[in-house]
Amino acid sequence: NRFFARKQQLAGKRVLITAGPTVEAIDPVRFLTNRSSGKMGFALANEALALGADVTLVTSVKQPAVDARVTVVPIESAAEMLSAVTARSAAMDIIIKAAAVADYTPVSYSAQKIKKAAGDDSAFTFKRTVDILKTLGENKPAKQVLVGFAAESQRVEENARKKLVTKKLDMVIANDISRGDAGFGVDTNEVLLITPTTKRQLPLLSKTETAHFIWQGIIELTAIEVN
Ligand code: CTP
Ligand code: CA
Repeated sequence: NRFFARKQQLAGKRVLITAGPTVEAIDPVRFLTNRSSGKMGFALANEALALGADVTLVTSVKQPAVDARVTVVPIESAAEMLSAVTARSAAMDIIIKAAAVADYTPVSYSAQKIKKAAGDDSAFTFKRTVDILKTLGENKPAKQVLVGFAAESQRVEENARKKLVTKKLDMVIANDISRGDAGFGVDTNEVLLITPTTKRQLPLLSKTETAHFIWQGIIELTAIEVN
């Protein structure tokens, strides 16, 4: 059995993972979201559980494909994700932000369905959301490990490195979303793991296999004791 064969390298560790898209409601019938499936985050949650961690998953995805022992916190919007994450972050040893958080949300929610009107060519107005990961980086407890993703369609390494620095991360996982077989909505991924001192290109793998290598990278990075 794969689960019991695993060394419990994360025994006693509290892990928080965010996964999937956020859903920004515009009015009772409309919303703004993105193509993230959540699969990379679910694979990371399942692998952490198999390694012995106490795992919390914050996601908008209904019935996410994770082990029943994962604590699932349901959210919809970026604002709800921010509250759910910041309420729990101080108690966490490791946080991985795999979620595709909306960068923009409607300026205000309309309780009534928005009707078309003459001259309303650009009727919807949006505002920037809070950067959850950056907020976590700025308030990071000393021993906490903070890992983010970078979804890039060009200059992947350079742009990912900027996110590592500006968000004060211990590791950034760079995804080239210009490819059809990696990242958004598919079962495979090919990522680059970047820390302030190391860089590791993983080959094209299933998201389950990718999750295994990401966790081994995090465990190495933090020198978490191996049983
Ligand atoms: N992220 C976040 N809160 C936001 C936006 C992004 O926590 N409001 C996190 C994502 O979960 C991810 C990381 O920041 O771990 C990078 O997200 P990405 O969309 O690649 O980068 P952004 O910083 O949003 O910059 P841009 O979209 O302009 O490239
Ligand atoms: Ca973004």
